[in-house]
Amino acid sequence: MENVSYAKSASLLERAKKVLAGGVSSEFRKYNHPHAIFYSHAEGSRIYDVDGNEYLDFTLSQGPLIIGHSHPHVLKSVAEYTERGQLFAGQHMKEIELAEKINQLIPSAELMRFCLDGSSAVHTAFRVARAKTGRKKFLRFEGHYHGWFDNVAWGLSGKDAAALGDREQPNAFPWSDGLPEHAREEFIILPWNDLALLKETVEKHQHEIAAIITEPVMCNNGCILPEEGFLEGMRELCTKYGIALIFDEVITGFRLSISGAQDYFGITPDMSIFAKAMGSGYPISAIVGKKEWMQAIENAKVIHAGTMNASNPTIAAALATIEVLEQEQPYDRMFQLGNRLMEGLRKAAADANQDLLVQGPGPMFNTAFTDLAVIKDHRDTLACDKARLGKFIAQMHDRGVRVIGRGLWYINAVHTVEDIDHAIKVASDVLKKM
Ligand SMILES: Cc1ncc(COP(=O)(O)O)c(C=O)c1O
Repeated sequence: MENVSYAKSASLLERAKKVLAGGVSSEFRKYNHPHAIFYSHAEGSRIYDVDGNEYLDFTLSQGPLIIGHSHPHVLKSVAEYTERGQLFAGQHMKEIELAEKINQLIPSAELMRFCLDGSSAVHTAFRVARAKTGRKKFLRFEGHYHGWFDNVAWGLSGKDAAALGDREQPNAFPWSDGLPEHAREEFIILPWNDLALLKETVEKHQHEIAAIITEPVMCNNGCILPEEGFLEGMRELCTKYGIALIFDEVITGFRLSISGAQDYFGITPDMSIFAKAMGSGYPISAIVGKKEWMQAIENAKVIHAGTMNASNPTIAAALATIEVLEQEQPYDRMFQLGNRLMEGLRKAAADANQDLLVQGPGPMFNTAFTDLAVIKDHRDTLACDKARLGKFIAQMHDRGVRVIGRGLWYINAVHTVEDIDHAIKVASDVLKKM
């Protein structure tokens, strides 16, 4: 695909821009290479664009396609269940079955509610935490992404580390115009993976903090694992001071293990958010939690609602996805494939004399051009060579390997050893030519 053409996509984009703002329906889709791309179909680990280009997909639609595109069991279950109706504004059988399944699998999931996406589920968890504790603020971490709503669209701006100021009291820049200034007063922000600083801050502000929210692995910036004792320490602080510990498992859920990062690390949060891989691309998420927290929703002290929540196709898709994951138990394989790919990329980079840093647990990992031996927090990611990463991702794309623009790779249950070795071969060629 060296002489790849994107002509049809380019022409459709011009047409789309006349009616869709920027030609897309989610900001990130603008930043595909070389511009927003129009796709015609996708199956398994492959996705095809309207110009007839085929891609080996490590984007997986930003994570959800954990059992591959167009999985037959998902499509069949959705079709059959949707034939009975789409949305009842009432309860239905598979909704209970899905909730029972999640209750069985996820340690913190004593009670739950289904929502449409990660952002709205995060929003619900904050409301519960404020209601139960009577406190106003939540504590979060630089570089962690919790959706695009007003009070979390901060601290992701990509400014350089100097602009972020003191580690003890970082500046958090708005990610968007139009955010209300009072949203900045809703949260305390800190660098991640610094337990001493977290402890000091929580002890100082305990009476204000309703919740601490964290991605259990910092997937959205650098794919950073928690340091030994960090999540444990966070759990202890939350228990000690009556603060809600919220795990944002939108990426780690059903990806690190079928029971989430909370099972993988053996730390049970008070509430957690699941989305992406839970629903194979259908709009479903869940806020799950311990009864003592979720009873605020149970007894309607906290309102959670949504016309479109738990529609038949979304519930059927999630149940079918989890059935496949339970039956196939692809996790060891996904770790092995991820590690094989990470090792292969490291070797390809070393052979080409490129300082490509590859890090992450395996089912997801990050690539960055930097001379750092390890990326420890968000501030480290800001010093990485983004221009070189852009070229690498673009040239991989031109050769039929699709990776998320910020350097994040996702493995799924239908990637094969041949897929992995092919991606390594392509990366090796690209890195040598760069
Ligand atoms: C960790 C995390 N939390 C929350 C969200 C927001 O989820 P959604 O895009 O479904 O609103 C995302 C999205 O990428 C995410 O990665």
